Amino acid sequence: MSRIACIGAGTVGRAWGVVFARAGHDVMLYDALPTEVNDRALPLARQTIELLARAGMLEEPVEVVFARLHPAASIAEAVTGAAYVQESVREDLATKRQVFAEIAAHAPADAILASSTSALPGSEFLGGLLDPGRALVAHPVNPPSLIPLVELCGTQWTRPETIDAARQLLTTAGMRPIVLRKEIEGFILNRLQFTLVAEALHLVGEGYCTPEDIDAVLTDGLALRWASIGPFEVAHLNAPDGLQGFVDRLGPMMKRLGALAQTDYDWTPAQVATAHAELAKRIPIEQIAERQAWRDRRILALRKLKQDDADGQA
Ligand SMILES: NC(=O)c1ccc[n+]([C@@H]2O[C@H](COP(=O)([O-])OP(=O)(O)OC[C@H]3O[C@@H](n4cnc5c(N)ncnc54)[C@H](O)[C@@H]3O)[C@@H](O)[C@H]2O)c1
Repeated sequence: MSRIACIGAGTVGRAWGVVFARAGHDVMLYDALPTEVNDRALPLARQTIELLARAGMLEEPVEVVFARLHPAASIAEAVTGAAYVQESVREDLATKRQVFAEIAAHAPADAILASSTSALPGSEFLGGLLDPGRALVAHPVNPPSLIPLVELCGTQWTRPETIDAARQLLTTAGMRPIVLRKEIEGFILNRLQFTLVAEALHLVGEGYCTPEDIDAVLTDGLALRWASIGPFEVAHLNAPDGLQGFVDRLGPMMKRLGALAQTDYDWTPAQVATAHAELAKRIPIEQIAERQAWRDRRILALRKLKQDDADGQA
């Protein structure tokens, strides 16, 4: 297997490390904070590998997979000999530009260079590179070690072969890439996610319901469907004549509610503080780590259910 470099080893970078190590690659991890890799990223990556093993999602012993993760002392050391580089440094244009310039200067000429950016169009920081044709955005869902979707988005310079090779490598590593046909800020996932969150803040802010109610609408309502079928298929299955019949009958209502949604709702700091207080009562701050571990187990349990179902139908 080829060598992979993960630049930035925080929440997302270390999870990418697990993805690639699980797939059999040797992974170099670099972070600007000297203690980050050894003191945090590696122990936390081991915990994730152990979690995957307990969930039956690891084909090799924990030690074998963990041994593929190596600390690097510099970007140059991390990317030397790498076939693929995944950048996950903080969401800041100037930092991304500077980090990519260094990556491009030291990585092999045929290496694929990918960014985890959540919302920044790649053309804003990948254009100045030596050969920007080999660079793209590969935006994961946090944490990519547990959630397979990844959004691939090229720039005007990205070669189609770069996208194809990234798609191939990530698919082989167990990810589920989608490829955007055009660049757009926030890509697809965050545009959908934050549109919903904006309207949720509006509904809570104007006193229609509580944050707990919104969470229940998702976890005991919409998301029970959405974990298996997305909104287009939901509409297709909610009418005997499929999507066309659904839109024929409910299209005017869909348009009206879309127009009424306040996605630019000007929420105030006081409204956020009230919502925070409600959440902190439900999940005290000191219990967040415990709740994250519970969330991660639930994600894997759901994935197992979906996989068993798919295997049963095969
Ligand atoms: N957290 C999420 O939910 C999420 C999801 C998808 C994508 N992303 C994106 O992934 C990227 C990383 O986010 P994160 O949540 O892991 O942030 P984070 O703060 O947990 O980690 C960022 C790491 O980058 C390191 N860093 C900063 N400057 C650096 C440099 N010049 N060279 C090397 N390392 C440097 C920091 O020390 C830190 O460890 C961001 O672009 C973010 O938008 C985040």
